[in-house]
Amino acid sequence: MRVAFISPNYPPEMPEFTRGLAEVGAEVIGVGHDPVEAMPPALRRHLAGYVRVPNVLDLDSAARHAAPALWRYGVDRVECLWEVGVELAARLREDLGVPGQSSEDARAFRDKAIMKDRLAAAGLRVPHNARATSQGEIRDAAERIGFPLIVKPIDGAGTRDTWRVDGADDLEGVLRRVAHLPELSVEEYIDGDELTYDAVSVDGEPRFDSVAQYHPRPLISRTQEWVSPAQIVLRDPHIPQLEDAVAFGRRVLRAMGMGTGFTHMEWFRKPSGEIVFGEIAARAPGGRLVDQMNYANDFDVYREWARVACWRSFDAPIGRRYHVACVFKRAHGSGRIRRIEGLERARNKLGAMLVVEDLLPIGAHRRDWRQTLLSDGCLIARHPDYRTAIDAMGVLVNDVRLFAE
Ligand SMILES: Nc1ncnc2c1ncn2[C@@H]1O[C@H](COP(=O)(O)OP(=O)(O)O)[C@@H](O)[C@H]1O
Ligand SMILES: [Mg+2]
Repeated sequence: MRVAFISPNYPPEMPEFTRGLAEVGAEVIGVGHDPVEAMPPALRRHLAGYVRVPNVLDLDSAARHAAPALWRYGVDRVECLWEVGVELAARLREDLGVPGQSSEDARAFRDKAIMKDRLAAAGLRVPHNARATSQGEIRDAAERIGFPLIVKPIDGAGTRDTWRVDGADDLEGVLRRVAHLPELSVEEYIDGDELTYDAVSVDGEPRFDSVAQYHPRPLISRTQEWVSPAQIVLRDPHIPQLEDAVAFGRRVLRAMGMGTGFTHMEWFRKPSGEIVFGEIAARAPGGRLVDQMNYANDFDVYREWARVACWRSFDAPIGRRYHVACVFKRAHGSGRIRRIEGLERARNKLGAMLVVEDLLPIGAHRRDWRQTLLSDGCLIARHPDYRTAIDAMGVLVNDVRLFAE
């Protein structure tokens, strides 16, 4: 089993997925634009080969460069779990005659208008929306949809360039801010809680699925620096309160034509209880959610995804043991981290519940909170009881504070 794996070094989870592939018996051929010599030895020892392309983000040129080299290797799979490379993986599969998601389906997972058209056609509730390529089209869409609304890139990721618009005055400012984007999705603003439905599927049937809640909603976390963005992976999504959500998620997978692999879906629960679709990607989630799944179930989903991708089988028992809360911290001030307060107290309060401490060390430069999902580091706590896990999350949000100068 030889697997071409696009971007084995980035985003930060990819070395773990590379390891997973090697551990289930695959020979992994990395594909990327970074020099393999610069990659850490822990990653390189899982790579049997590497094909360097000028730029993974340039679909046509990357495919032109990679296809002949991968042809010579004779690969059985082409995989990618980085949002911007999933279409390159699909193109290479088609060029090389390898099974897996087609370019057409990959595009539907990227383009938020095609995505919602597919789902609406299957009778699933999506926000009213329109594709817009000019200021005139944005204004027309706003007229039809009404305020408040959301304006965002048609194929964005990481809540970049996403704006809430509350009225006509607001719209003029947002039009200027999105002027650099060629294509936009203009959408009805959905109020409510925001959650995920993540799955590892074989032929569209989830072998493992997981639901996480965002606290607060990503659009708020990504625009308010003082927030400690948090998310909790729920111990078991197969409970009565989530029966409709799991059923909704599975209908989405079918309507999207999902085959085999990881998916990350976001959805809203309105105060009325109604579920509204948010978005779906044909990849694993970022921002430590995969690690949280592992802590929830005491398994290694990096390896099980790899097993599914290579051998269409998910072998690990699914523990469903813990609710797992992850809290990202942002230092007050700018420059280097000088002081961390409240960590000792949190350790004492949480004891063995605190399973990960991954804060930037004293002296390290703050990350740019606008550019990273990881902020200045994170803390992860778990507990079998939901209220206890939520309280632990509160401790990490409120008690632990980083200061930079
Ligand atoms: N129609 C909508 N209604 C309300 N909030 C939205 C809507 N679309 C996006 N958002 C907010 O913006 C965030 C980013 O949008 P999303 O579609 O998830 O894009 P990305 O691919 O960048 O994550 C969402 O997590 C949500 O908080
Ligand atoms: Mg999103």
